[in-house]
This record gives sequence, C-alpha cells and structure tokens, in this order.
Amino acid sequence: MFADDAAKKDVKTVRIASEVWHNGQFVNWDDARIHVMSHVIHYGSSVFEGIRCYSTKRGPAIYRLREHMQRLLNSAKIYRMDHGCTLDELSAAAVELVGRSGLDQCYLRPIIFRSLDEERPAFGVNPFPNPLSCYIGAWDWGKYLGDEAIEQGVDVCVSTWNRLTPNSMPVMAKSGANYMNSQLIKMEALTNGYAEGIALDDRGFVSEGSGENIFLVHEGRVITPPLSSSILPGITRDSVIQICRELEIPVAETGLQRAALYVADELFFTGTAAEVTPIRSVDRIQIGDGKRGEITARIQQAFFDITKGERPAPGPWLTYVNESRKSDGDAGSNGHKVPADKATRAVATEATDPLSRYTAVVTD
Ligand SMILES: Cc1ncc(COP(=O)(O)O)c(C=O)c1O
Repeated sequence: MFADDAAKKDVKTVRIASEVWHNGQFVNWDDARIHVMSHVIHYGSSVFEGIRCYSTKRGPAIYRLREHMQRLLNSAKIYRMDHGCTLDELSAAAVELVGRSGLDQCYLRPIIFRSLDEERPAFGVNPFPNPLSCYIGAWDWGKYLGDEAIEQGVDVCVSTWNRLTPNSMPVMAKSGANYMNSQLIKMEALTNGYAEGIALDDRGFVSEGSGENIFLVHEGRVITPPLSSSILPGITRDSVIQICRELEIPVAETGLQRAALYVADELFFTGTAAEVTPIRSVDRIQIGDGKRGEITARIQQAFFDITKGERPAPGPWLTYVNESRKSDGDAGSNGHKVPADKATRAVATEATDPLSRYTAVVTD
C-alpha cells in the first residue's frame, strides 16, 4: 500500500546527467556506487545541497551557486567533516558538470558523506575512521509540488511531527539524517491527502515544511519565521526577503503561532525544489481567496524573471555555465578546477543585514 502511494506522488525526473563528479574526477553514472556497509547508510552521516540551474537566453545558469556551496561547507563543518573541498573547487565542479551534461536546466545534488575504508573497515557509530566522499549529481527535475502548484497553490496540513530541536539535530546543517524528520512530515501529509506538511518547532511556533521555508502575508506585510524556529536558513527564503525589499513590500522575521496560518491573507512556500509555491489551504481551512494571492504573485513573478535572467537580481545570483567555462580557457579535462566567475565570487561577502544572512547563526 505504501509503495503504491509513493508511485502516484513522485516528482517527474526528465533526464539525468550521464556523469557524476566524485572527489575531483568525473565518473560515469553507473560507476558512482558505494559499499552497502558505508557509515552513511547505517548512521545517516551525510550533508548535502540542492541547487537549481535554470534555462536562460545565455544558456544554463546556476542559481546562487556559491551560497549553496558555502552552506554545504558549513554543514560539513558542523559535523566535523574534514573533506578538503574548497568553495572554489565545488563551485567549479558544479559548473563543469552542467557543461558536460548538455542539460539546459537541471537540479544539482552535491553531497559529502562518510563511506567505508574496505582495507580497514569500521562499523561503529564513531564516524572518524570512515573516509569522506564528495559527489555531485545532476538531473532535470519537474515541479516539486506538482505541475499546477505554482499557479493554483497547494493544500497542506500542520504536521503532528515537530521539527527538530536545535540541541538534538542542528537544522542549520542540511544533513541527510534531518530528512528522516522531513520524511515523517511528508508521509503523514501525503497519506492524509495533502501535498505537504508544515511542522511546528518544539515550542509550538511555526517552523517550516518538510523541504521548504514558509511565508505569510498579513495586511500587506510579509512575515517568515526566524532561524530560532528551527528552520533551515533557506537560500530561496533569503532571495524572497531581498525581492520584497526591492518591490518595497515590508518584510519581517517573526515567531508565528499555528493559528496565524489559518487567518493569513496569503501563504507560500519557498525552496530550491518548490521555488515559490502558493498555499491555498491549511488543515482544510481556506487561505484568503483559496488561490494564489496578489503579493505572492508579484514575488513569484520577480523570482522567476530573475531565474530566467530576464530581470536584474538584487545581487550576482546567476552563474552562467557557458560563460564561466569559456572564461577559464581549458575547462574540459577531468577534475580540472574552474575558478567561479567574478560575479559569484562577490556574493560570498555580500550579506551583512540580518534578514539576508542565509548562513546566519541566530536571529529572533
Ligand atoms: C527542510 C528545508 N527547509 C527549507 C528549504 C529551503 O531551502 P533552500 O531555499 O535553500 O532550498 C529546504 C530545501 O532545501 C529544506 O529541505
């Protein structure tokens, strides 16, 4: 019964890149395999990212590449993973992978995990004896919450599962193990006929969806829970905050009670996979007019225009793959380091305002 449910609700995968980047080399998709006794399989010891690459008139463009790779490095640091990959190397690898794949648009999945030293196997919880592996895969992915979700909005529930507490599993780190919590939230929602679940934090304040941050619109103001509500510091969330400022829509981070969701004028999710997705009902209570709200539509439009390269972004958010590869001169060989373009370099030092700190330590 569970498998049947899953099959109905999977996201369409259109095409998969034939190569995977592994520790500085490109390997064939079929060769990107690990031992079943790897530490990560038993103890969840991985950190990862999800990055979108959009189709633009200038070819494929990776969205906020360095911010994503910086978050990956932060996640690895939290879990004491001394992997030796640098921000430049990871960013260059992503550019090169997309270039070699021939995909015009795709979703990138960098991952660092604890594997198995087959010469000197270690099977305990202690992760230190297990070698670290870093991979990046890519595939062309459909709309995460369904094809119509972007326009029509989705029906969601408040989950009976709470989000992780900051001193049990740090949600600031995008670790594979955190997604066991996400899976509980997601499965409960799907089983009960909803597209997604919203988790509360351990105090009962609104936290986030299983794979998205959440925003509320109330009397013309846009509000989102702070990092202290056990949320992943989402890069799309940060983008939306900056877009709101550009559009002169007041925006704030504030703790939200569950009931605030029901009486909101508009609600929407943000995330790399979900992009900007309106929410039309929560627990079968209609939100606003039960369709995409006016402010959500404005933000969504600006977001998609930026990702298509058709509207200037508040910062240097797009890394154009073809231009980045060309500017390096010789980017074709395996494991070659391609310096990221100047635009993306600048981003690393850009965010100083608390509302735009995607790697912030804490806000309230
Ligand atoms: C739990 C969770 N929250 C929020 C997000 C949104 O983060 P981002 O916009 O960086 O993709 C994601 C997606 O990665 C997520 O898995």
